[in-house]
Amino acid sequence: MKRICVLGGNGFVGQSLCRLLAGNNWLVRVPSRRHIGNQEPLRTLDGVEIMQCDIHEPARLETLLTGCDAAINLVGILNEKGSDGSGFRHVHVELTRKLIHACQNQGVSRLLHMSALHADAERGPSHYLRSKGEAEQLVVEAGRLGLSATRFCPSIIFGPEDSFFNRFASLLRFAPVFPLACPASRFAPVYVEDVARAFMLSLVDDDTIGQAYNLCGPNTYTLKDLVRYTAQCCGYHRLIIGLNDSASALQARLLGLLPGKPMSYDNYLSLTVDSVCAEGFPARFGTPVAIEEVVPEYLYRG
Ligand SMILES: NC(=O)c1ccc[n+]([C@@H]2O[C@H](COP(=O)([O-])OP(=O)(O)OC[C@H]3O[C@@H](n4cnc5c(N)ncnc54)[C@H](OP(=O)(O)O)[C@@H]3O)[C@@H](O)[C@H]2O)c1
Repeated sequence: MKRICVLGGNGFVGQSLCRLLAGNNWLVRVPSRRHIGNQEPLRTLDGVEIMQCDIHEPARLETLLTGCDAAINLVGILNEKGSDGSGFRHVHVELTRKLIHACQNQGVSRLLHMSALHADAERGPSHYLRSKGEAEQLVVEAGRLGLSATRFCPSIIFGPEDSFFNRFASLLRFAPVFPLACPASRFAPVYVEDVARAFMLSLVDDDTIGQAYNLCGPNTYTLKDLVRYTAQCCGYHRLIIGLNDSASALQARLLGLLPGKPMSYDNYLSLTVDSVCAEGFPARFGTPVAIEEVVPEYLYRG
């Protein structure tokens, strides 16, 4: 059996991926900042070892990678504490740099890295997309030095525990009239199990080394379509009012002042680039599932 360390393995995508890896005979090591109580779903899964630790501490990271054949980096944030980009760089760029060093020091030769669609260190419109792009550059550079790395760049990811459809479902519940920022932004939602399968298959497919894969679902929708669809799945009759560009930016700035930042100006900037792919889901990773096949099952509120 091969051993793999999955940073961010206790998150939404991570839990699906770790279940899949464990079911395919990988021994999976998952660090988390959280206290690992009985309620953690991965805790009782055979083949998964989950532990509380600080992955930003280089020595800890090296210990985690000891004896591993591969590593996966799923760590990512959508919002930072301040607004100058340093929070995104700390999590996306600096952690990736530390992980690459740890892989090199521990002889871990295979790395799968989660980025985002249209991440771009120079031309990305937001701190989120620029920092994701910068992290990708580090991975590409490490590839030139011998690390067997593969990058994945998904559109929005959906699944029973997602924070996209579920978040809109919660907001719509209490809002008969729903003012929506960036209504015309386009997405190609991709199913979490399809993303997890792409990662797992890539581990045993050497042709994916050195490649980056955009991961999009089979259909594209505007944000307004998706919010309308969410309301429909929940059985809510709601008036959704698309805001123009300046009102969208203002709403994002105001929501960014609230605790937990339901939306931020940086999110608004990310939404200025459509999150859609020029090409279909990579055939080597199978056929992607559409939202209509899955979302109604977990959104239905009765
Ligand atoms: N979900 C989407 O629609 C989507 C779309 C495109 C790209 N992505 C990317 O896919 C990856 C996984 O996304 P997800 O939806 O699964 O996110 P998630 O549920 O929020 O999980 C992210 C993981 O990152 C870890 N993490 C967050 N902040 C951290 C920090 N400051 N230090 C250390 N660890 C930290 C968390 O670990 P703890 O266990 O310690 O909390 C968590 O397990 C991310 O890189 C994200 O940018 C997601």
